[in-house]
Amino acid sequence: MYRLLVLVCCAAVFGGALATPASAKRHGGSSVTKASFGALPASMGGNAIDRYTLRNDSGMSVSILTYGGIVQELIVPDRRGRKANVTLGFDSIAGYTSAAYAASNPYFGAIIGRYGNRIGGARFTLDGVTYPLDVNNGPNTLHGGFKGFDKNMWTGEAVRTRSSVGVKLTRVSADGEGGFPGRLPVTVVYSLDDRNRLQMDYTATTDKPTVVNLTNHAYFNLAGEGSGSIEGHQLRINADRYTPVDATLIPTGAQDPVAGTPFDFRGFTAIGARIRGNHQQLVYGRGYDHNFVLNPRRGGGLNTAAQLVDPDSGRMLTVLTEEPGLQFYSGNFLDGTLYGTSGRQYRQGDGLCLETQHFPDAPNKPGFASTTLRPGQTYETTTVYAFSTVGGH
Ligand code: GLA
Repeated sequence: MYRLLVLVCCAAVFGGALATPASAKRHGGSSVTKASFGALPASMGGNAIDRYTLRNDSGMSVSILTYGGIVQELIVPDRRGRKANVTLGFDSIAGYTSAAYAASNPYFGAIIGRYGNRIGGARFTLDGVTYPLDVNNGPNTLHGGFKGFDKNMWTGEAVRTRSSVGVKLTRVSADGEGGFPGRLPVTVVYSLDDRNRLQMDYTATTDKPTVVNLTNHAYFNLAGEGSGSIEGHQLRINADRYTPVDATLIPTGAQDPVAGTPFDFRGFTAIGARIRGNHQQLVYGRGYDHNFVLNPRRGGGLNTAAQLVDPDSGRMLTVLTEEPGLQFYSGNFLDGTLYGTSGRQYRQGDGLCLETQHFPDAPNKPGFASTTLRPGQTYETTTVYAFSTVGGH
């Protein structure tokens, strides 16, 4: 069979041209397939779970579950074309439903909602009404409460465009789910094109005023999941400021400069270079677990939020988004209790998340961009994980 020689090139220039495979043209071999991924245990509803696999012509494939909208596997070529699964997860549903998983609750690869990240004191007030929410993270609400979008079933449908293959996931979040007001029909479309870009398009509407903040919680290890620490990965974040937090990881409301702190990732820096410093914010986070205030892009459109490089394999991830913030989480709570897809133990720092979002606790912080959604409005946001390679020439 004729195979395209995929040439990869490098242009790790922030805001500059993205490095993309030279074989961006269509070759007709991309596909979206559906297979069974087993079923939830009877105690969790017993639902049958489908796994959609999106495959392109440039060596990438992405598998997504109808449970939690979980990105279960992400196969990406390195600079020499060798493939690896670069996201943390499990090879069967048992991994996602085990008692150990519930205890450490890492949200591997999942769609996060109704409100990604924390809401302080597990309550917010909108139009004079106070809504108490699930208290599932210290005194706060995290990632939508006890049973967020990550632990619910979604309906899947294969979709294709001229330039991509994808899966459209839908569900309706009931009025009062986790304490949030309004019936919220939600759609998330994952699509993969031949330039190795995985795009996520989120939409939602409501029948009552509410708050919405959706994201994806994929953990990346660009050397391959189960291969060890991400501390040697080089990270660049397009942010002059970040939102410092209190001891329960709720933003203080300040937007502090990163200059002169371990939060300055404006130039490529190894994640491990400063992570063991005794900066108060690193102590609170047990490492990085902070929201960065993205420098806005002039003219709108997708903003380059961050770039992540594994120097050994040359794999590079560029995160592009319409969101104003990015939570950089360095996998601090991975505690060695979980064994992932390749059967290896996940220890602290074996994966990292780059979660595009509005800022944590925005419903209680008038100074932060609003997360309110009202009847008649449509919540719409797009984030892209673009893969390429650097070096090796
Ligand atoms: C988010 C939070 C972290 C942690 C992870 C899941 O990224 O900010 O504190 O809870 O989810 O383990």
